[in-house]
Amino acid sequence: MALARFLRGNSTISRAFAPLTQSLFSTSATPITATFFPGDGIGPEIADSVKQIFNAAEVPIEWEDHYVGTEVDPRTQSFLTSESLDSVRRNKVGLKGPMATPIGKGHRSLNLTLRKELGLFANVRPCISLPGYKTRYDNVNLVTIRENTEGEYSGLEHQVVRGVVESLKIITRQASMRVAEYAFHYAKANGRQRVSAIHKANIMRKTDGLFLKCCREVAEKYPEIEYEEVIIDNCCMMLVKNPALFDVLVMPNLYGDIISDLCAGLIGGLGLTPSCNIGEDGICLAEAVHGSAPDIAGKNLANPTAVLLSGVMMLRHLNLNSQADQIHSAILKTISDGKYRTGDLGGTSTTSDFTKAVCDNL
Ligand code: IPM
Ligand code: MG
Repeated sequence: MALARFLRGNSTISRAFAPLTQSLFSTSATPITATFFPGDGIGPEIADSVKQIFNAAEVPIEWEDHYVGTEVDPRTQSFLTSESLDSVRRNKVGLKGPMATPIGKGHRSLNLTLRKELGLFANVRPCISLPGYKTRYDNVNLVTIRENTEGEYSGLEHQVVRGVVESLKIITRQASMRVAEYAFHYAKANGRQRVSAIHKANIMRKTDGLFLKCCREVAEKYPEIEYEEVIIDNCCMMLVKNPALFDVLVMPNLYGDIISDLCAGLIGGLGLTPSCNIGEDGICLAEAVHGSAPDIAGKNLANPTAVLLSGVMMLRHLNLNSQADQIHSAILKTISDGKYRTGDLGGTSTTSDFTKAVCDNL
């Protein structure tokens, strides 16, 4: 029963990654409307930073702000209201700050609600070394693409008898093909050379086996992109020994969750790493993946880099490339100059100092 319901919920998505044409119609007179979830904790402060910088760069976007509700919405079974979800469906583009999942019974995680309800099937996290911000590695330039709707995240767990529980890992041809196609499409569109499929098919022969079969099928349609398969444990070792060995990595859900954090760690952490979810009918929901940091909330201390870089990914999705380039360079310059860095990067600047410095560097 539960499995049938899960598979129905995951049913056909016709236009997997239809290009968004909204920007073709945008002029400063008719700006693009985008949904903004400032989120909780430091969310509103870093959201303000995005708004200020986007304004200064004259990005033709009008934001529709949506906050997490205080009660469970019966239609979404979570603290996200159906108005918020409809806003993303209507605008097809949005940006999300950190959301602390309220503890309570009978509701779903906010992230999972967004992914499921909006059919956000691919999660894209580029990890690129930031010039001037020294970590153990100088040459990281890779992108993880994670299947975002099934696998161990299917939520199908139960007790068989006392002392024995079971969790179902679901892999479908439909979701695997969709994410594999997106990975190769992304590699080609972004001038990348290689796609590595990450798996454990030597042990999970059926599930990861099907995932690999789909990747191979798609790889054949892209002879210009190199394709390889790497077992996940070996992948982790290779990543920490020499991340330059990788270009685009595509993988099932849970592996993507773990590997994307590992890769973020190579360049300085989740505070510096952007993320973007691609969904049904060309939806793009960019997001900061870090937590809401309640300990520093409201103190003007948070680093807005991750949400800003996610905003830049959103602009690229909208084909607003000149504004994306301009903002991206200004962020990189501010960090590499090193004069205005927030506490997490070893500096003493406030969120507003950093924001002003980025605006000055535009
Ligand atoms: C992520 C996060 C989420 C996940 C949590 C917050 C549910 O870790 O986006 O990587 O597990 O997918
Ligand atoms: Mg994670």
